[in-house]
Amino acid sequence: MGELVFTAKVTHVPSIWMSEMYEQHKGIRDNAINGLVELGKRAKAAGVETFAVIDTHWIVNQGFHLNAAGHHAATFTSHELPHFLEDMEYAYDGDPELGNLMADTVRDSGFRAMAHDTPNLKVEYGTLIPMRHMNQGLYASVLPIAANQFASIDEGRRMGEAMREAIEKSDRKVGLLASGSLSHQFFPNDQSEAGAFETNTEFNRQVDIRVLELWQTGQIKEFIKMLPDYAARCAGECQMIDTAMLLGALGWNDYSGKAELLGEYFGSSGTGQANLEFAL
Ligand SMILES: [Fe+2]
Repeated sequence: MGELVFTAKVTHVPSIWMSEMYEQHKGIRDNAINGLVELGKRAKAAGVETFAVIDTHWIVNQGFHLNAAGHHAATFTSHELPHFLEDMEYAYDGDPELGNLMADTVRDSGFRAMAHDTPNLKVEYGTLIPMRHMNQGLYASVLPIAANQFASIDEGRRMGEAMREAIEKSDRKVGLLASGSLSHQFFPNDQSEAGAFETNTEFNRQVDIRVLELWQTGQIKEFIKMLPDYAARCAGECQMIDTAMLLGALGWNDYSGKAELLGEYFGSSGTGQANLEFAL
Protein backbone atom coordinates (compact mmCIF):
# COMPACT_ATOMS: atom_id res chain seq x y z
CA MET A 1 0.00 0.00 0.00
CA GLY A 2 1.50 3.29 -1.08
CA GLU A 3 1.51 6.39 1.02
CA LEU A 4 2.15 10.10 0.81
CA VAL A 5 4.68 10.43 3.62
CA PHE A 6 6.12 13.90 3.11
CA THR A 7 4.95 17.17 1.54
CA ALA A 8 6.69 20.50 1.13
CA LYS A 9 6.64 23.77 -0.73
CA VAL A 10 10.21 24.47 -1.80
CA THR A 11 12.32 27.16 -3.38
CA HIS A 12 14.48 26.53 -6.44
CA VAL A 13 16.08 29.94 -7.08
CA PRO A 14 19.13 29.52 -9.33
CA SER A 15 21.19 31.82 -7.10
CA ILE A 16 21.41 28.73 -4.87
CA TRP A 17 23.87 27.40 -7.44
CA MET A 18 25.81 30.69 -7.41
CA SER A 19 25.92 30.51 -3.63
CA GLU A 20 27.55 27.11 -3.85
CA MET A 21 29.77 27.43 -6.87
CA TYR A 22 30.99 30.97 -7.40
CA GLU A 23 33.56 32.43 -5.02
CA GLN A 24 32.17 35.99 -5.17
CA HIS A 25 28.67 34.75 -4.24
CA LYS A 26 29.60 32.14 -1.64
CA GLY A 27 26.94 31.75 1.02
CA ILE A 28 24.37 34.18 -0.37
CA ARG A 29 21.68 31.49 -0.30
CA ASP A 30 22.74 29.53 2.78
CA ASN A 31 19.29 30.18 4.26
CA ALA A 32 17.60 28.45 1.33
CA ILE A 33 20.15 25.64 1.11
CA ASN A 34 19.95 24.88 4.83
CA GLY A 35 16.17 24.67 4.56
CA LEU A 36 16.36 22.25 1.64
CA VAL A 37 18.95 20.09 3.39
CA GLU A 38 16.79 19.89 6.51
CA LEU A 39 13.71 19.03 4.44
CA GLY A 40 15.74 16.30 2.78
CA LYS A 41 16.72 14.82 6.14
CA ARG A 42 13.09 14.82 7.23
CA ALA A 43 11.94 13.24 3.98
CA LYS A 44 14.53 10.51 4.33
CA ALA A 45 13.46 9.90 7.93
CA ALA A 46 9.85 9.67 6.73
CA GLY A 47 10.90 6.87 4.39
CA VAL A 48 10.52 8.67 1.06
CA GLU A 49 11.35 6.34 -1.82
CA THR A 50 10.31 8.66 -4.65
CA PHE A 51 10.12 12.43 -4.86
CA ALA A 52 7.27 13.58 -7.09
CA VAL A 53 8.24 17.16 -7.90
CA ILE A 54 5.74 19.62 -9.35
CA ASP A 55 8.16 21.75 -11.34
CA THR A 56 7.05 25.29 -12.29
CA HIS A 57 9.95 25.47 -14.75
CA TRP A 58 8.64 22.52 -16.72
CA ILE A 59 5.82 24.58 -18.13
CA VAL A 60 3.29 22.91 -20.39
CA ASN A 61 0.42 24.47 -22.31
CA GLN A 62 -2.00 21.55 -22.39
CA GLY A 63 -2.86 18.57 -20.23
CA PHE A 64 -0.94 16.80 -17.48
CA HIS A 65 2.56 15.53 -18.16
CA LEU A 66 5.21 13.77 -16.18
CA ASN A 67 8.65 12.44 -16.94
CA ALA A 68 8.53 8.69 -16.39
CA ALA A 69 12.04 7.93 -17.61
CA GLY A 70 13.88 5.20 -15.73
CA HIS A 71 16.92 7.40 -15.28
CA HIS A 72 17.52 11.15 -15.51
CA ALA A 73 21.05 12.27 -16.30
CA ALA A 74 22.51 15.23 -18.18
CA THR A 75 24.35 18.51 -17.69
CA PHE A 76 21.99 21.44 -17.19
CA THR A 77 22.39 25.12 -18.08
CA SER A 78 19.46 27.48 -17.56
CA HIS A 79 18.17 29.24 -20.68
CA GLU A 80 16.53 31.95 -18.56
CA LEU A 81 19.51 32.76 -16.37
CA PRO A 82 22.60 31.17 -17.92
CA HIS A 83 24.86 33.48 -15.90
CA PHE A 84 23.27 32.14 -12.68
CA LEU A 85 23.14 28.42 -13.37
CA GLU A 86 25.39 26.56 -15.77
CA ASP A 87 26.89 23.12 -16.16
CA MET A 88 25.07 21.40 -13.33
CA GLU A 89 25.57 17.68 -13.72
CA TYR A 90 22.80 15.45 -12.44
CA ALA A 91 21.97 11.76 -12.32
CA TYR A 92 18.88 10.35 -10.57
CA ASP A 93 16.89 7.20 -10.89
CA GLY A 94 13.37 7.80 -12.18
CA ASP A 95 10.16 6.01 -11.30
CA PRO A 96 8.42 4.73 -14.46
CA GLU A 97 6.04 2.55 -12.48
CA LEU A 98 4.65 5.33 -10.31
CA GLY A 99 4.78 7.73 -13.26
CA ASN A 100 2.61 5.54 -15.44
CA LEU A 101 0.18 4.80 -12.62
CA MET A 102 -0.10 8.51 -11.84
CA ALA A 103 -0.71 9.43 -15.49
CA ASP A 104 -3.36 6.70 -15.77
CA THR A 105 -5.09 7.89 -12.60
CA VAL A 106 -5.03 11.55 -13.59
CA ARG A 107 -6.42 10.53 -16.99
CA ASP A 108 -9.22 8.60 -15.30
CA SER A 109 -10.13 11.77 -13.44
CA GLY A 110 -10.85 13.52 -16.74
CA PHE A 111 -7.57 15.08 -17.94
CA ARG A 112 -5.36 14.43 -20.92
CA ALA A 113 -2.49 12.90 -19.02
CA MET A 114 0.76 11.54 -20.42
CA ALA A 115 3.77 9.77 -18.96
CA HIS A 116 6.85 10.36 -21.12
CA ASP A 117 9.94 8.25 -21.47
CA THR A 118 12.19 9.84 -24.04
CA PRO A 119 15.90 10.54 -23.63
CA ASN A 120 15.49 14.01 -25.11
CA LEU A 121 13.09 15.19 -22.43
CA LYS A 122 15.45 16.66 -19.84
CA VAL A 123 14.78 17.82 -16.30
CA GLU A 124 14.33 21.49 -15.37
CA TYR A 125 15.83 23.34 -12.46
CA GLY A 126 12.60 23.46 -10.47
CA THR A 127 13.36 19.80 -9.86
CA LEU A 128 17.15 19.83 -10.03
CA ILE A 129 17.89 22.53 -7.44
CA PRO A 130 15.74 21.01 -4.65
CA MET A 131 16.91 17.48 -5.47
CA ARG A 132 20.54 18.52 -5.32
CA HIS A 133 20.15 19.45 -1.64
CA MET A 134 17.24 17.29 -0.49
CA ASN A 135 18.21 14.04 -2.15
CA GLN A 136 21.77 13.79 -0.89
CA GLY A 137 23.10 10.29 -1.16
CA LEU A 138 20.47 9.66 -3.86
CA TYR A 139 18.21 7.80 -1.44
CA ALA A 140 15.07 8.45 -3.52
CA SER A 141 13.95 8.22 -7.15
CA VAL A 142 12.77 11.35 -8.91
CA LEU A 143 9.52 11.87 -10.81
CA PRO A 144 9.29 15.34 -12.41
CA ILE A 145 5.73 16.62 -12.95
CA ALA A 146 4.96 19.48 -15.31
CA ALA A 147 3.06 22.64 -14.41
CA ASN A 148 0.26 23.56 -16.81
CA GLN A 149 0.30 27.35 -17.13
CA PHE A 150 -3.24 27.45 -18.48
CA ALA A 151 -4.88 25.10 -15.97
CA SER A 152 -7.26 26.67 -13.48
CA ILE A 153 -6.77 26.51 -9.74
CA ASP A 154 -9.68 24.05 -9.60
CA GLU A 155 -8.05 21.84 -12.22
CA GLY A 156 -4.87 21.94 -10.14
CA ARG A 157 -6.88 20.76 -7.13
CA ARG A 158 -8.32 17.86 -9.12
CA MET A 159 -4.92 16.89 -10.52
CA GLY A 160 -3.53 16.87 -6.99
CA GLU A 161 -6.38 14.70 -5.74
CA ALA A 162 -5.77 12.20 -8.54
CA MET A 163 -2.03 12.21 -7.83
CA ARG A 164 -2.75 11.33 -4.20
CA GLU A 165 -5.07 8.54 -5.31
CA ALA A 166 -2.31 7.15 -7.54
CA ILE A 167 0.23 7.30 -4.71
CA GLU A 168 -2.13 5.34 -2.48
CA LYS A 169 -2.74 2.72 -5.20
CA SER A 170 1.02 2.26 -5.65
CA ASP A 171 3.44 0.54 -3.33
CA ARG A 172 5.62 3.64 -2.94
CA LYS A 173 6.31 5.98 -0.08
CA VAL A 174 6.24 9.33 -1.80
CA GLY A 175 7.43 12.82 -1.02
CA LEU A 176 5.41 15.40 -2.95
CA LEU A 177 7.05 18.77 -3.55
CA ALA A 178 5.53 21.97 -4.91
CA SER A 179 8.58 23.66 -6.37
CA GLY A 180 7.62 27.27 -6.94
CA SER A 181 7.68 30.80 -5.69
CA LEU A 182 5.28 32.75 -3.51
CA SER A 183 4.80 36.11 -5.27
CA HIS A 184 6.70 36.19 -8.54
CA GLN A 185 7.10 39.73 -9.85
CA PHE A 186 10.59 40.08 -11.30
CA PHE A 187 12.15 43.52 -11.30
CA PRO A 188 12.36 45.46 -14.56
CA ASN A 189 15.64 44.79 -16.31
CA ASP A 190 17.32 48.04 -15.27
CA GLN A 191 16.63 47.24 -11.58
CA SER A 192 17.36 43.53 -11.71
CA GLU A 193 20.86 43.54 -10.18
CA ALA A 194 19.94 45.97 -7.41
CA GLY A 195 16.93 43.80 -6.55
CA ALA A 196 18.77 40.50 -6.21
CA PHE A 197 17.72 40.11 -2.56
CA GLU A 198 14.41 41.97 -2.60
CA THR A 199 10.75 41.19 -3.18
CA ASN A 200 9.28 43.36 -5.90
CA THR A 201 6.61 45.57 -4.44
CA GLU A 202 5.94 45.96 -0.78
CA PHE A 203 2.40 44.83 -1.52
CA ASN A 204 3.65 41.45 -2.72
CA ARG A 205 5.99 41.10 0.26
CA GLN A 206 3.20 41.87 2.71
CA VAL A 207 0.82 39.42 1.05
CA ASP A 208 3.52 36.71 1.08
CA ILE A 209 4.09 37.29 4.80
CA ARG A 210 0.37 36.99 5.46
CA VAL A 211 0.18 33.80 3.39
CA LEU A 212 3.01 32.29 5.44
CA GLU A 213 1.05 33.16 8.60
CA LEU A 214 -2.06 31.47 7.23
CA TRP A 215 -0.12 28.34 6.35
CA GLN A 216 1.75 28.22 9.66
CA THR A 217 -1.45 28.62 11.66
CA GLY A 218 -3.41 26.11 9.61
CA GLN A 219 -5.84 28.59 8.07
CA ILE A 220 -5.90 26.67 4.82
CA LYS A 221 -9.58 27.24 4.03
CA GLU A 222 -8.98 30.99 4.18
CA PHE A 223 -5.91 30.64 2.00
CA ILE A 224 -7.81 28.58 -0.57
CA LYS A 225 -10.40 31.34 -0.83
CA MET A 226 -7.71 33.87 -1.65
CA LEU A 227 -5.54 31.65 -3.87
CA PRO A 228 -7.02 32.71 -7.24
CA ASP A 229 -6.63 36.41 -6.34
CA TYR A 230 -3.17 35.81 -4.86
CA ALA A 231 -2.00 34.07 -8.03
CA ALA A 232 -3.39 36.81 -10.26
CA ARG A 233 -2.40 39.90 -8.25
CA CYS A 234 1.01 38.70 -7.08
CA ALA A 235 2.11 37.33 -10.47
CA GLY A 236 2.09 33.69 -9.34
CA GLU A 237 4.79 31.51 -10.86
CA CYS A 238 2.90 29.39 -13.39
CA GLN A 239 -0.31 30.80 -11.81
CA MET A 240 0.63 29.02 -8.53
CA ILE A 241 -0.61 25.78 -10.02
CA ASP A 242 2.01 23.90 -7.95
CA THR A 243 0.41 25.15 -4.75
CA ALA A 244 -3.06 24.21 -5.99
CA MET A 245 -1.86 20.70 -6.87
CA LEU A 246 -0.11 20.28 -3.51
CA LEU A 247 -3.19 21.36 -1.58
CA GLY A 248 -5.37 19.14 -3.76
CA ALA A 249 -3.19 16.19 -2.78
CA LEU A 250 -3.45 17.23 0.87
CA GLY A 251 -7.24 17.22 0.80
CA TRP A 252 -7.99 20.88 -0.04
CA ASN A 253 -10.55 22.27 2.43
CA ASP A 254 -10.40 19.06 4.46
CA TYR A 255 -6.69 19.48 5.19
CA SER A 256 -6.31 20.26 8.87
CA GLY A 257 -2.53 20.42 9.11
CA LYS A 258 -0.10 23.31 9.35
CA ALA A 259 3.07 24.28 7.60
CA GLU A 260 6.43 24.80 9.26
CA LEU A 261 8.73 27.45 7.83
CA LEU A 262 12.36 26.35 7.59
CA GLY A 263 14.70 29.29 7.73
CA GLU A 264 13.41 32.67 6.65
CA TYR A 265 11.28 34.09 3.89
CA PHE A 266 13.49 35.89 1.38
CA GLY A 267 13.37 38.01 -1.76
CA SER A 268 15.16 36.92 -4.91
CA SER A 269 15.27 39.11 -8.03
CA GLY A 270 11.83 40.41 -7.03
CA THR A 271 10.21 37.07 -6.23
CA GLY A 272 9.15 35.89 -2.75
CA GLN A 273 10.67 32.59 -1.63
CA ALA A 274 10.45 30.14 1.26
CA ASN A 275 10.83 26.49 2.25
CA LEU A 276 7.98 24.91 4.21
CA GLU A 277 7.04 21.42 5.29
CA PHE A 278 3.29 20.73 5.31
CA ALA A 279 2.44 18.32 8.11
CA LEU A 280 0.63 15.13 7.19
FE1 LIG B 1 11.23 29.69 -10.58
